[in-house]
Amino acid sequence: MDKPTHHILVCASFRVGGDPKGVCHKKGSVDLLPYIEEEVLDRGLDALVCSTGCMKQCDSGPIMVIYPENYWYGNVDSQEAVDAILDALEDGEVCEDYNLA
Ligand code: FES
Repeated sequence: MDKPTHHILVCASFRVGGDPKGVCHKKGSVDLLPYIEEEVLDRGLDALVCSTGCMKQCDSGPIMVIYPENYWYGNVDSQEAVDAILDALEDGEVCEDYNLA
C-alpha cells in the first residue's frame, strides 16, 4: 500500500460512545476539515487528513497533530491558522505560533 508522507489528525472531540464531547468541535475543528483537505490538495502535499477522538489537550483546542513529525498544534480555529501550519510543514519547520510545547 502507498503510505502518506504526513498524517494530519484533527480533533473532532469524539468520546467513547461516539458523541462529540469536548472543546475542539465546539470551536470549529470539524468545520475546518474541508478547508484542510482543499489546502492539502492545492499544495500537493502527500498527506492524509483524519478526524479523531479527543486528544486530551482540550484546554488548548482545537488540536491538530501532524505525524511523523510529532507536531502538536493548539488553537487551530481559523483558515489563517491552517495556512500558517501548512506553510511551515512545506518548509519542513514547526509553526511556532500554534506549537504546543
Ligand atoms: S476535545 Fe479536542 S483535545 Fe479534547
